[in-house]
Amino acid sequence: MKIIMLGAPGAGKGTQAKKIASKYNIPHISTGDIFRANIKNNTELGRKAKVYMDKGEYVPDELVVALIMDRFKEADCKNGYVLDGFPRTIPQAEALDKALLENGEQIDFAIDVLVPDEHIIKRMSGRRACVGCGATYHIQYNPTKTEGVCDVCGESLILRDDDKPEIVQNRLTVYHEKTQPLIDYYTSKEILVEVDGTKDMEEVFSNIVNVLGK
Ligand code: AP5
Repeated sequence: MKIIMLGAPGAGKGTQAKKIASKYNIPHISTGDIFRANIKNNTELGRKAKVYMDKGEYVPDELVVALIMDRFKEADCKNGYVLDGFPRTIPQAEALDKALLENGEQIDFAIDVLVPDEHIIKRMSGRRACVGCGATYHIQYNPTKTEGVCDVCGESLILRDDDKPEIVQNRLTVYHEKTQPLIDYYTSKEILVEVDGTKDMEEVFSNIVNVLGK
């Protein structure tokens, strides 16, 4: 099964993608996580991506497409994947379709997690990310057992630089301009599924499972 997660920054794409990956035994591929790992390891890709990410802007298409095409070559992708944060622009979606078509494949579902902008800024200021393993929490909706400490690896938690309110506002602007057109793109391919992302995390997941199948 090949799935794309769509939705504004902070809509809950990553949260749901992790659950989907675990239930359907497919890899969760997050371009944001891959960039953050590269930034942490101070790679050339990480240094290039950081310039854009710190401002809340998109990393250029050619960098993202090259990265994702490389990732698809790994063995764990053979039974599908859930893509979180890719594609984000029409050129990225077209590059993905072209690559899949060459192997006679296609995306099965594009899941749009709908959350109004006014919810997003509040949500983002409460998100905490682990500096060690990248796990994400929310101080109110998904707290850790011990405050400030990752449940998975025990490392400390931070507010991501791009989760500061002024940057989130820019990410929302960029999202509406560049990613919203993908909604029409996948609607026309008849694979778009909309879920209400303002519901409780488990309810959102159960609505997704109802569409994907048990
Ligand atoms: P990325 O890391 O992908 O950021 P994003 O898309 O902006 O999405 P987020 O990770 O911020 O949010 P999410 O929707 O996954 O929400 P989450 O589940 O964490 O990308 C970062 C940057 O990298 C981009 O800005 C760009 O610069 C660059 N980049 C990445 N991919 C790119 C591409 N393809 N092209 C170009 N540039 C690219 O949830 C958010 C919070 O809400 C959490 O605290 C969570 O616990 C909580 N939450 C989740 N669901 C619920 C719920 N139902 N109710 C209450 N709280 C909830």
